[in-house]
Amino acid sequence: MSLQPAPTPGNTNWFVHDRFGLFIHWGLYALPARHEWVKTNERMSNEQYEKYFKHFDPDLYNPEEWAKAAAGAGMKYFVVTTKHHEGFCLWDSDLTDYKSTNTPYGKDLLQPMVSAFRHQNMKVGFYHSLLDWHHPDYTLDIHHPMRDDAAYAAEDANRKLEAYTEYLHGQSRELMTRFGKVDILWYDFSIQANSRFAGKGKDAWQSERLIDLVRTHQPHIILNDRLEIEQDIKTPEQFQPRSWVHVDGKPVVWEACQTFSGSWGYHRDEESWKSVDVLINMLIDSVSKGGNLLLNVGPTGRGEFDYRALQSLKGIGEWMKRHSRSIYGCTQAPAEFVAPPDCRFTYNPEKKRLYLHILSWPFRHIHLENMVGRVEYAQLLNDASEVKMVTSIPEESYGAGQEQRAKSLLTLDLPVKKPNVTVPVVELFLK
Ligand code: GLC
Repeated sequence: MSLQPAPTPGNTNWFVHDRFGLFIHWGLYALPARHEWVKTNERMSNEQYEKYFKHFDPDLYNPEEWAKAAAGAGMKYFVVTTKHHEGFCLWDSDLTDYKSTNTPYGKDLLQPMVSAFRHQNMKVGFYHSLLDWHHPDYTLDIHHPMRDDAAYAAEDANRKLEAYTEYLHGQSRELMTRFGKVDILWYDFSIQANSRFAGKGKDAWQSERLIDLVRTHQPHIILNDRLEIEQDIKTPEQFQPRSWVHVDGKPVVWEACQTFSGSWGYHRDEESWKSVDVLINMLIDSVSKGGNLLLNVGPTGRGEFDYRALQSLKGIGEWMKRHSRSIYGCTQAPAEFVAPPDCRFTYNPEKKRLYLHILSWPFRHIHLENMVGRVEYAQLLNDASEVKMVTSIPEESYGAGQEQRAKSLLTLDLPVKKPNVTVPVVELFLK
């Protein structure tokens, strides 16, 4: 039996099947192009940051192209920043002037994006920042750009965080009622206190009330955990968990969120781009532990995906074209199947197929424990070429006699030459 998380309020059935999504971080920070936290990293005031609002004009924006690139990579859903910490809104909100329609670009960015991704049969997700570094009633905290400004701090007692919270709820209502079915809502994030500032968590956001509001309009929606109330998914960020993520000792639905390079927003001078090889390994690794991968792109201020992101999406797509069977509908293999060195298993419980991902190509043989007599057929997934199987006795048991039969290994006879794919996969049809 493979592990099964307990049901949650939202519908995660499609999510644990689809496994692979695109994260999009897009906002004014694409213009400074040096991290989406630039406003606070450089302690900019609203006035100083205003130049990005005044010059925001993504004239090459074509969401159909974005959606095609994502679908071509095998992604099945997307999650876009409707508003990031800077406070700028991608849709035509009634509750603020700080939105794309008031920039030189002059149009709503979200509506056409949602249509374009739906057109590619992808599910729709919104990331929405709980932080807001532009709203006048949003009080200081350890991350706020004005935290070291004495004059600004002196006014903090006059700021009404409840007014901001109402704004947060009102905008959430807009997002839940104006864009048709929304499949995921990804709030970010709750803030720690320190000796100078209070934190902000479920009381500040009025999380219970907010969750009610969201579920009233979109009962099936998948909510993440960052409102400080556990909901449908856990979202480990910028690392791969060691094993299936557990909460209170129980396995939960989880999704690793990762970047192509170090930054979430477009970062011109950043060089830490991951190779296609590493990205595919991250996807395999997530599914082998029962999780999803949400991979992020930060489009430029002209409205395009960076060429390196496009190249990576293409490379992933090449692999997914032949190997998506080892990803979609798959999960962690039952505990009795232990992956041999340099390999990861995924498992499709419905089809009873085990997928052996070979991360480092060996010389001719891979030996599998606990599998003698259990595999009906084996083939390489990229070209459906048969992989011959033999039963072998482990070297350490030579001469040990008949009783060693139980310990015999199922040995896969592989070609000496690695197949011409990033990560070769052997498909094992279980009896
Ligand atoms: C963080 C950061 C952020 C990014 C997010 C993605 O919490 O604040 O910039 O949007 O993680 O998970």
